Amino acid sequence: MLLFERPNAGEKVILVHIAASRATTEDMEELAALAASCELKPVAVIQSSRDEPDPKLFIGRGKVAEVRQAVVDYQAELVLFNCALSPSQERNLEQALGVRVMDRTGLILNIFAQRARSYEGKLQVELAQLRHMAARLVRGWTHLERQQGGIGLRGPGETQLEIDRRLIAQRIRQIEQRLRKVEGRWRLSRSARKRAELPTVALVGYTNAGKSTLFNALTQAGVYAADQLFATLDSTLRRLQLDGGSVVLADTVGFIRHLPHELVAAFRSTLQETCEAEVVLHVIDASADQRQANIEAVYGVLEDLGIDRKRVIEVYNKIDRLGRLPQLDRNADGWPARVWLSARTGAGLEFLLTALSEVLAREVVRAQVHLSPSEGALRARLFTVGRVLRDEATSDGGWNMEVELPARHGGFLESIISRAVAVSGTSSGYNNRLLRDELATSRQ
Ligand code: GTP
Repeated sequence: MLLFERPNAGEKVILVHIAASRATTEDMEELAALAASCELKPVAVIQSSRDEPDPKLFIGRGKVAEVRQAVVDYQAELVLFNCALSPSQERNLEQALGVRVMDRTGLILNIFAQRARSYEGKLQVELAQLRHMAARLVRGWTHLERQQGGIGLRGPGETQLEIDRRLIAQRIRQIEQRLRKVEGRWRLSRSARKRAELPTVALVGYTNAGKSTLFNALTQAGVYAADQLFATLDSTLRRLQLDGGSVVLADTVGFIRHLPHELVAAFRSTLQETCEAEVVLHVIDASADQRQANIEAVYGVLEDLGIDRKRVIEVYNKIDRLGRLPQLDRNADGWPARVWLSARTGAGLEFLLTALSEVLAREVVRAQVHLSPSEGALRARLFTVGRVLRDEATSDGGWNMEVELPARHGGFLESIISRAVAVSGTSSGYNNRLLRDELATSRQ
């Protein structure tokens, strides 16, 4: 649905970097990388330093003239600003420059739109785009106000602007309705997974860190991996077999610096996977120039999502580029804190598997139960969910079992644990963790 005519965006793009927006050089590099992942070709970078943005044009008139000249010289078709432009600034700039102008949020929305693969992902992107567009539908698109609408589209006396508003509002409502349905379905599948009592391990990381490659290496799932930012938009789930039992591995969308807030909301369900995960693997491109800044950007988002750092294991990926050997670093308490590996070559994957098994083992309790002859189905379930250490037939036709189960509460496991003859934390690790949490709290 083309709602308003704007200059078409082509592939040659001029990047405008404004120091007043507190943008750093890395932010500029990131904008160039984002543009490249959208198959745009940056042909020139124009820098400006303003203390106060100009209310009308963001940059000063002299700068506008400079950008216009560059547009002509390079035959650019798009000007990208590394800051958030107000709708009217964007419009005024388009008028002044004669080409399409986009800010960072607009660009990210475009990338998300290109990459969304699931039905839900597509709906969420369209919703975010429409909301972003609605903010841009302000009086002043005068050239549109008196246009003819299609027959049957225009209500009596409606201007084009009013039609656009009405259509956008309608579409937003429609999408919200569909999303509610999809989210309902998603919750169902989540609760099915919860019932299965499999712990979730979520992969997060700065975009291009190598999450999908690691996900593939771990599960050989053949998920799409490409050297483009945001190659994965929808969280993808796979079952992964570890020493102590199965887990669900969740791949998630790549993070970037200053993820626009409307997008955080749009991808809530993708990130929800991360919020509820027992273990979060923070995948880091160890070879990236901006490694530290990227790490901090990811922790910023994790903090926004309320994720406790204690649940995070850092995975320093791409060590093949550094010529480093694989390694497992432990923290002062002896718990796995950091794994150095290469998802591409597979070097060090075994350290990650060890770390995961160890960390998940501290979430396990050991229970001894007696099952009656009528509880065959429950017995079968214990074999899939837990690790059966002992299984003896008893004279009453039932069984005595000793099983290790995930130490999470709720539903079926709760009932098993409550009727257990004896329950204990398995590895001393489980108790250690509680102790460590207490210590951490008492130190605060
Ligand atoms: P987004 O979907 O953008 O968030 O990316 P991602 O984190 O899922 O990254 P992806 O797995 O798509 O990898 C990005 C690029 O890095 C691809 O070209 C991979 O082949 C490459 N890559 C991943 N792991 C390694 C590694 O261990 N070594 C090297 N040299 N390259 C790697």
